Amino acid sequence: MHARIFLIGFMGAGKTTHGKQIARMMEYDFIDMDRWITERQGKSIPQIFEQNGEPFFRQMESAAIDELQKREKIVIATGGGAPCHNDNMERMKKAGLTIYLKLAPGALLVRLQHSKTQRPLLEGKNESEMLRTIQELLEHREPFYSRADMVIDGLDRVNERVVNAIQRR
Ligand code: S3P
Repeated sequence: MHARIFLIGFMGAGKTTHGKQIARMMEYDFIDMDRWITERQGKSIPQIFEQNGEPFFRQMESAAIDELQKREKIVIATGGGAPCHNDNMERMKKAGLTIYLKLAPGALLVRLQHSKTQRPLLEGKNESEMLRTIQELLEHREPFYSRADMVIDGLDRVNERVVNAIQRR
């Protein structure tokens, strides 16, 4: 059984929702990495991007992995870019089980259009610009995401079958 489970995938894929359900069913703690960072910085993700810049935010993601890999029985929903910077993917794979929550660009677009979370990388974009950004970012990120130990279809609900598959890994 893995002490740590990292849920990775694009913005809007449902990492937080799935992560909470998996944690509940496995009786693990749940941590949202973005939230962990905002609590420590005392500011929101858009504020961090604006005031400190994206490279600083990426350092914070790496620092979060350093800290969280010390904990046990924990499900971590990572930010969409976390596996694609520094050596984060490698370190998460060493520290626990990585699961890619996968969704196609069209489905991500619909979810992101209805999401209330502010995301600096998509701010101020209309529908076609948003779709283009999703496609371009996903093309760059897919090679990182696809190194995950397991893939879950983002359209699938978390159920016993999914949790059993995680526990067998
Ligand atoms: C980002 C994803 C966001 C957040 C930040 C940057 C990204 O998290 O970390 O806005 O680079 O994909 P979610 O994946 O939870 O939206």
